[in-house]
Amino acid sequence: MRSYAKHVAFTGAVAALAVAFMVSTAAVRAEQAKTAKDGVYSDAQAKKGESLYGEQCAACHGGDLSGGGAPALAGGDFLGFWDKTPVSDLVEKIQSSMPASAPGSLTRAQAAEISSFILKANKFPAGAADLSSDAAALKAINIVK
Ligand code: HEC
Repeated sequence: MRSYAKHVAFTGAVAALAVAFMVSTAAVRAEQAKTAKDGVYSDAQAKKGESLYGEQCAACHGGDLSGGGAPALAGGDFLGFWDKTPVSDLVEKIQSSMPASAPGSLTRAQAAEISSFILKANKFPAGAADLSSDAAALKAINIVK
């Protein structure tokens, strides 16, 4: 009887631990699960990005983002390259090295605007709020194919 009770208590403890583990990993997963498909930029922001893109990027990356002298910024190859990469990397890449003729000339807000236009061109849906220009917030959103 005693050992049976012990056994039940032990099994209960193991089950409780297992549940606690599952709950905590689910919480972590929920935090990381945000993707570019979740409406992470606004249409108004993408519009601003579109005009910046036309002025500063289209000459090399093409008016329709299909590339030319520079890589395409929309379509299968682009998405394959950026798949499972946080949006922060894209914004960072644009702000630090683009336009290639004047790297570092864009503000972070402008880089976020152009990134939201690039997301739109890759058929990710718009949402209610702007894409943040905060690095930590952008790190929590993954680009996915
Ligand atoms: C003078 C030509 C030129 C202009 C203007 C230019 N780029 Fe680029 N861009 C390049 C070249 C060349 C590469 C490839 C080398 C590299 O990744 O640095 C590139 C790469 C990129 C990449 C990485 C693409 C990939 O999938 O590897 C992004 C994103 C990008 N550019 C965004 C922009 C944006 C946004 C602008 C406008 C603000 C811009 N570029 C303006 C020439 C240009």
